[in-house]
Amino acid sequence: MAEYDDHPAYPVGLRLNGRRVVVVGGGQVAQRRLPALIAAGADITLVSPSATASVEAMADTGEIRWERRRYQDGDLTDTWYALVASSDAEANDAASAEAERTRTWCVRSDDAEAATAWTPATGRSEGITVAVLTTTSQGRDPRHSAAVRDAIVEGLRDGTLAAPHHRTRAPGVALVGGGPGDPDLITVRGRRLLAEADVVIADRLGPRDLLDELPPHVEVIDAAKIPYGRYMAQEAINQALIDHAKAGKAVVRLKGGDPFVFGRGMEEAQALAAEGIACTVVPGISSSISVPGAAGIPVTHRGVAHEFTVVSGHVAPDDPRSLVDWAALAQLRGTLVLLMAVDKIGSIARALIDHGKSPDTPVALVQEGTTAAQRRVDATLATVGERAAAEDVRPPAVIVIGEVVAVGPEPSGHSAE
Ligand SMILES: C[S@@+](CC[C@H](N)C(=O)[O-])C[C@H]1O[C@@H](n2cnc3c(N)ncnc32)[C@H](O)[C@@H]1O
Repeated sequence: MAEYDDHPAYPVGLRLNGRRVVVVGGGQVAQRRLPALIAAGADITLVSPSATASVEAMADTGEIRWERRRYQDGDLTDTWYALVASSDAEANDAASAEAERTRTWCVRSDDAEAATAWTPATGRSEGITVAVLTTTSQGRDPRHSAAVRDAIVEGLRDGTLAAPHHRTRAPGVALVGGGPGDPDLITVRGRRLLAEADVVIADRLGPRDLLDELPPHVEVIDAAKIPYGRYMAQEAINQALIDHAKAGKAVVRLKGGDPFVFGRGMEEAQALAAEGIACTVVPGISSSISVPGAAGIPVTHRGVAHEFTVVSGHVAPDDPRSLVDWAALAQLRGTLVLLMAVDKIGSIARALIDHGKSPDTPVALVQEGTTAAQRRVDATLATVGERAAAEDVRPPAVIVIGEVVAVGPEPSGHSAE
């Protein structure tokens, strides 16, 4: 073992694209480190008699070359960087000695003091790599480094760590899917863009609690589209997006769920494109899957449903404006997920029964899913119209029709298919 050295490590970023890297040992350490080496473009050779299933999969897909044997002298020839992490102490010592002799920077998972390089705790956020090292081997505390890394990356991602970009930001609009309502269910990218916005145009649905966190200078515009009530016309929303973007503002259009699932997101993207305004789309967690899930209903389940179909129920089946083929939907065995269907559920259920769906098919209505006010009402296709009225179910609600409604956390004994 080398003598204790209290000089600080010198941080550097290695550009490994196309350069030979040797990993000795195919266990958990290799499994954790290999993805970043692969992402760096390194030409990786693994030398190890065995490997974990994940490491083996990397070899199977050709991301690494695997020499299925013990380390032998000469393995580090022409190598730029070595990671020595096997459970074979003798092999580790020999590889480390070869690295020293050949001037190859070498990380050792079993002996930080003997290593010539250390792996920092790393994380990434929007073009920045954060790498945290404790200063000397004596003070090495990998958990503390990882915690510092997490705090920095988290802060950069959600915008709570003030690190303004010094490049001039191109004005434009981000169409952000906010998820179903729980503020924790927006994506990290969505949350960061929200924190950087000058103007936020928000829907009634989605994570409205996040709007309270915005600094006072941010202009929040309510684009509430309450069904059959007051609404701001889509043209007015489009115009507001265009006007604010043209004024050089960073605009976030915050939508419930995913922008492209009954969200009119593409209409807004088209209006912006027509004006030559840059538009970024940030997908969101759609209520069509997450709201049933939050109420304990999987939209698919092995042996029960091999498909799910998401349908808008905002117009009745006999309405000439309807684009939905209810007769075809009645023939499907899988799950039907209805959005915007509370008002019309009675006539929709009748249409499905008339077209052959069993009146006993289980149905669940999940109102205000993922929020503190979430509630679930169960029924069958025959009773759902009455139950929805008797229980005063109101929008927003997702209605799930199909056998998955009856699948709970208890093992069901359904056959594997
Ligand atoms: C105009 S659509 C927008 C859907 C949204 N883009 C998405 O991907 O979830 C509105 C409908 O979504 C459903 N919805 C959205 N959020 C919901 C929630 N938290 N709980 C229940 N239903 C919700 C309701 O069916 C509501 O009428």
